[in-house]
Amino acid sequence: MTDAPTSIDRSDRAPLRIVSTHGRPSITPATRLCLSTIDSRPDLIRGRGIDWGSGSGVLTVAAATESQVEFVLGLELDPAEVVTARINAELNGVADRTGFLVSDSYDPLPDQDASMLEALRGKATFLIANPPTSVGDDGLGWRRRVLTGALEYLAPGAEVLLQVSRQYGVQRTERLAFDVGGFTYNGVLGSTGWVPFDQNRTDLRAALSWYVAEESRTGEKYSFRHPDQDRQIDAAEAQRLGTITGASPRTQWRMHRFTRLS
Ligand SMILES: C[S@@+](CC[C@H](N)C(=O)[O-])C[C@H]1O[C@@H](n2cnc3c(N)ncnc32)[C@H](O)[C@@H]1O
Repeated sequence: MTDAPTSIDRSDRAPLRIVSTHGRPSITPATRLCLSTIDSRPDLIRGRGIDWGSGSGVLTVAAATESQVEFVLGLELDPAEVVTARINAELNGVADRTGFLVSDSYDPLPDQDASMLEALRGKATFLIANPPTSVGDDGLGWRRRVLTGALEYLAPGAEVLLQVSRQYGVQRTERLAFDVGGFTYNGVLGSTGWVPFDQNRTDLRAALSWYVAEESRTGEKYSFRHPDQDRQIDAAEAQRLGTITGASPRTQWRMHRFTRLS
C-alpha cells in the first residue's frame, strides 16, 4: 500500500513524482543530499549502475532520468519497498531503464530475476548507496559490505557515491577504501548543514551507544557538534549531555566519492 504521490524538486530538472510505502518516509535529509549529489555530478553517473538499498527507488529513478544513464538496478531487502519503487519508476517514465530486485545485499531472493544483476558483473560504471548504520561495530559495517560486494560488479574506474555522515571523521571514512581494497577515496561530494543526530530515534540512540563502546575499545574518537555550542564533542560526551539535558548532538550527512581501481 502506498501514500499519495508528492513532488520532489530537483535543480535544473523536472521534479520527481514519488509515492512512499504507507507509514515509511520516502525522503530523509540524507536522501535529499544523495539526490542533490546526483544532480550536481552527472559526470559521475553514466552508463549502467546499482543503487544499493534502494528503498522506494528515489535515487534509482533520479539517476535513470539522466540522459547519460542507460540502466539502474535497485537492490532492496524490503519487498514492500520494491513494489513502491516499481510504481515510482512508472510514474517518472523510467520503468524501461530501471530494475528492482528483492535482495539481501547482492544476493537476490530465490524468486527474483537474478540475471539483471548478473548482467552487471564487472560492467557497472557507478554505484549509489545510502546504507543503514550498522550496530555492534564502529557503525560502518554495512558500508564495508556494500563496497566489498561491489568489487564483483564494478568495472575498473567505476564511481561510488556513498553516504557516510560527518561524525565518523575523515580518517575512518578514508580507511574504508583501504579496509576493503580495490578503491581509492576521492573526498566529499556534498554535505548538509548541521542536523541533529536525533536521540529520539532508537536506531541513532543505539548507534551512539556503540560509538561510545568503540571509543573506549580503540581510543579513536567520533566527532559530533555540541547541541548548542560551537565546538566538537566525542561520542561519550554526546551521550552524557543527552542523558542530562535530553539534547541530541549534531552532525552532517555527507556524500563521498570512491573510485574502483583499474
Ligand atoms: C537509509 S535507507 C536508504 C533508502 C533510499 N536509498 C534513500 O536514500 O532514501 C537504507 C535502505 O537499505 C535497505 N537495506 C537494509 N539492509 C539491506 C540489505 N541487507 N540488503 C539490501 N537493502 C538493505 C533498507 O531496507 C532501506 O531501504
